[in-house]
Amino acid sequence: MFITVEKDEQAFDKAAAARIIAQIKNKPDSVIGLSTGRTTGNMHRLVSEAYAREGFDCSHITLFGVDEVGGVPKEYSGACYTMLKTQITDNLGLVEPDNFIMLPTMSDDFERDCKAFRDELAARGGVDLMILGLGENGHLGFNQPGTPFESRAGINKMLSDLEERIRRETGTPEGQWLGGITLGLKDIMEMKRIVLVAKGSNKTAIVKEMLEGPVTEDVPASMLQNHPCCEFLLDSAAAAALTL
Ligand code: GLP
Repeated sequence: MFITVEKDEQAFDKAAAARIIAQIKNKPDSVIGLSTGRTTGNMHRLVSEAYAREGFDCSHITLFGVDEVGGVPKEYSGACYTMLKTQITDNLGLVEPDNFIMLPTMSDDFERDCKAFRDELAARGGVDLMILGLGENGHLGFNQPGTPFESRAGINKMLSDLEERIRRETGTPEGQWLGGITLGLKDIMEMKRIVLVAKGSNKTAIVKEMLEGPVTEDVPASMLQNHPCCEFLLDSAAAAALTL
C-alpha cells in the first residue's frame, strides 16, 4: 500500500493541494473528484491561491463532488455544491456544467439523476483523480458502514449529528426527508486514481482500521486496500496508531 505521512496539518494541506495542481497541469482535461468537510477546505483554498498566482489552464477540467446533501436547496451553505463553489470552483473560473458538475440536492427521481451523473462522468472519460475524505466511522462519501461494496450512486443515510445540524441550519422540519446522495462504493472503486485524505487525531482510530483491519463492509474505507492505484495521504496525527 502507498502511504504518505506528512509531519503536520500545514504540510498535509500543501501535499494534497499539490496532487490536484499536478493533475491539472499534467492532463488539462482531467476529471477530478472532490470531497467536502473539515479535511479538504484548506487544500481547496491552496489550489485557488496557486491558480491566482500561476494562472494554469483550468478551462478544460471537470470538477465534481463525490456526494451531496439531499433534501436542501443547493444554495444552502452546507450543501456540497455551495461549499465547492465558494472554496474552489468560482476561484478557478469554472463554468457549469462544462467544468463543474454535482449530484442533485433535490430531485423527483434520484435514481434517474444518479445514473445520469455516472453516465456523464463516463462520457468525460472516467475519473482521473478522486480526492476522497474519510468519515470517522469509515464512511466514504455518504456510504455508511454496512453499504454493499457493489453499491452504485444513489441515496444513503446521513449520520444523526449531521442531520440535526442541517435541520437546524435550514429550518427543515422533522418528518421532511433529508439524506445523503453519493456515488456508490463500486463507482469509487472504478476510479482510475484515488488519494484518500485524512488528518487529525479524530481520524487516528479509523485510519488504523482502514489500513490494518480486515476488508469489510462494516468499514467502507477498508475496501481501498484493494484499489490498484490509491495513495493514503495522512498527517502524523491521523497516522499515529499505524504499525505498518
Ligand atoms: C462527510 C462527507 C464526506 C466527507 C467526510 C469527512 O460526511 N459526506 O464526503 O469526506 O464526512 O468529513 P471531515 O473531513 O469533516 O472529517
